Amino acid sequence: MKNYFNKKYKENNAFNTSYINGDCIEVMATMVENSVNTIVTSPPYNLNKKYGKYNDNRPLDEWEALIDKVAVEAKRVLTHNGSFFLNVSPIPDKKTKEIIPLDAIAYFIFKRHGFYLRNSIVWHFNNMQNCTNRLSGRWESILWFVKDINNYVFNLDDIRIPFITKNDKRLVGKTGRNPTDTWSFDLPESDFWYFDRVNNMTKGKLGISEHPCIFPTPMIERIIKMSTNEGDVVLDPFLGSGTTLIAAQKLNRIGLGIELDEKFNEIIDKRILNESSPELF
Ligand SMILES: C[S@@+](CC[C@H](N)C(=O)[O-])C[C@H]1O[C@@H](n2cnc3c(N)ncnc32)[C@H](O)[C@@H]1O
Repeated sequence: MKNYFNKKYKENNAFNTSYINGDCIEVMATMVENSVNTIVTSPPYNLNKKYGKYNDNRPLDEWEALIDKVAVEAKRVLTHNGSFFLNVSPIPDKKTKEIIPLDAIAYFIFKRHGFYLRNSIVWHFNNMQNCTNRLSGRWESILWFVKDINNYVFNLDDIRIPFITKNDKRLVGKTGRNPTDTWSFDLPESDFWYFDRVNNMTKGKLGISEHPCIFPTPMIERIIKMSTNEGDVVLDPFLGSGTTLIAAQKLNRIGLGIELDEKFNEIIDKRILNESSPELF
């Protein structure tokens, strides 16, 4: 496989995936411009999670500076018709406990760097915190940014979901409906992006309890299907346990990842080898 990172990296040849340990800002700066079709990622949210090397407890302006640098490098490495999917969550301020909408902050950063917001997707899930002094949080944002609002890949037919009314004659021959980005209270066959978070039981089953927050693989598969074609390049600059590489591998895309902490390498390698079976999630 072509060396996308321009330096030594770990390659899983059989599956067209590779990753490198390092700071994503530094690594992305070494990557060739216009070489990545889609970036999909979930940066740390500043929630004091125990990742390892990364300190997830820092002033908000440091978090903003990190996202700003990611946006700059992303603009350069993405193809002209490329997309960036950024998963972030509302978080409580450490002192006042007021809610900080990280997606709003990220929106203005990406906008400043010339990206266009195509959708603000609500990812709903059930298992999370139970609050007593405010409503319990049950969603995160996935901001879909494009470099060019008039030219981007959107394979709607590859991600259609079943119609609600199955016997409507007007639907005969049609393949399904748009999965939408909207609220609904009709779970799980709804308009929500309803993918359960990877809970501790699933983590145990997969032998990946070491990572604190893992994407549901089917969610990343949907994003990759809708925004890339076979053989395209997908990058996750905050790779974590390697979910984006698993999804890319399943869909015959080239998956690239950057992860600061080498302590996750064992999990990533294990997942790339073992997780070809969709029923695990
Ligand atoms: C929210 S987790 C990503 C989880 C991932 N979506 C998954 O499915 O496993 C964020 C990851 O970013 C890593 N990280 C933090 N700062 C980084 C940086 N500057 N460059 C690369 N990785 C970084 C952390 O070690 C952590 O594993």
